[in-house]
Amino acid sequence: MEPLIFRNGRDISIQGIVLDVIREEVRSPIHFPEYKETKKYTEVPLNKIICGDAIEVMQAMPSDCVDLVVTSPPYDELRNYNGYAFDFEGMAKGLFRVIKKGGVLVWVVGDKINKGNRSFTSFKQALFFQSLGFNAHDVMIYRKKNTPFMRSNAYTNCYEFMFVFSKGSPKVFNPLKTKTVRQGQEMLPFNKKADGINKKTKGELKPEKTLTNIWDYAVGYGGSTSDKIAFQHTAIFPEKLAEDHILSWTKAGDVVFDPMCGSGTTCKMAAINKRHYIGCDISKEYVELTRKRLKYFNL
Ligand SMILES: C[S@@+](CC[C@H](N)C(=O)[O-])C[C@H]1O[C@@H](n2cnc3c(N)ncnc32)[C@H](O)[C@@H]1O
Repeated sequence: MEPLIFRNGRDISIQGIVLDVIREEVRSPIHFPEYKETKKYTEVPLNKIICGDAIEVMQAMPSDCVDLVVTSPPYDELRNYNGYAFDFEGMAKGLFRVIKKGGVLVWVVGDKINKGNRSFTSFKQALFFQSLGFNAHDVMIYRKKNTPFMRSNAYTNCYEFMFVFSKGSPKVFNPLKTKTVRQGQEMLPFNKKADGINKKTKGELKPEKTLTNIWDYAVGYGGSTSDKIAFQHTAIFPEKLAEDHILSWTKAGDVVFDPMCGSGTTCKMAAINKRHYIGCDISKEYVELTRKRLKYFNL
């Protein structure tokens, strides 16, 4: 049977015969918003970290006010947050509304592997985004350089997807570059001319080239970040990942939003790179963690 999911605070009654009771395993306590900060914003809540359900927070935000979203959902953890259900479709629709035309959504997600069977939640979500009208601009890979070896009958899983969606065509693209292997060296390529004779042409190899869509990052302390405080959250992505997307898809002064900001990685990198940020998380603890982290760097 599919899981039955109920929002916090809603009364339910289920009728029938009890066959078995499966208890929730004990998890570290995550507190849900004892207080609600969500109110209808008269202005875009720039440079704020908001505690609340992102769906409600987005409902309070005007349409077309965000240039870039870089975020990572609590994938396949439907019951991980004290029974709180992650309403993916509500989240996706809210994102489509608040992102500007030409704006970009980077959705960082992996699949849970249950008894050797991948959930494909990532693909299902990607197809849903596309069905809403998002343009599937790219399917990028976030490869983790130092993934611990996993003993199983499959290869060690070392990546997550970075689905890049845009509303129309991205209005900003600043391609990141990398140095070429033989940068600046003289090249003597053969140019085949119409007469079929190979002629040598002189020139220099380009010193740099545009990156591919597979990006490698070290993870863990010193890799994802050197902010010890960030590791109070168990599922952070690397600062550099957030920064690379911010530099690729926005310009200074643009608005970068993370609706599930966790430890505040996206917000920190947006502020460092002179973009406005908006952060939101349903957990009061994570909101406080993000605020502390930003304050420490005077951001
Ligand atoms: C994978 S973590 C994000 C980590 C973040 N990228 C970082 O680097 O710290 C997902 C976050 O989503 C938050 N979350 C889950 N459901 C939410 C909702 N409906 N609204 C806002 N935040 C939510 C969780 O509390 C969790 O912190």
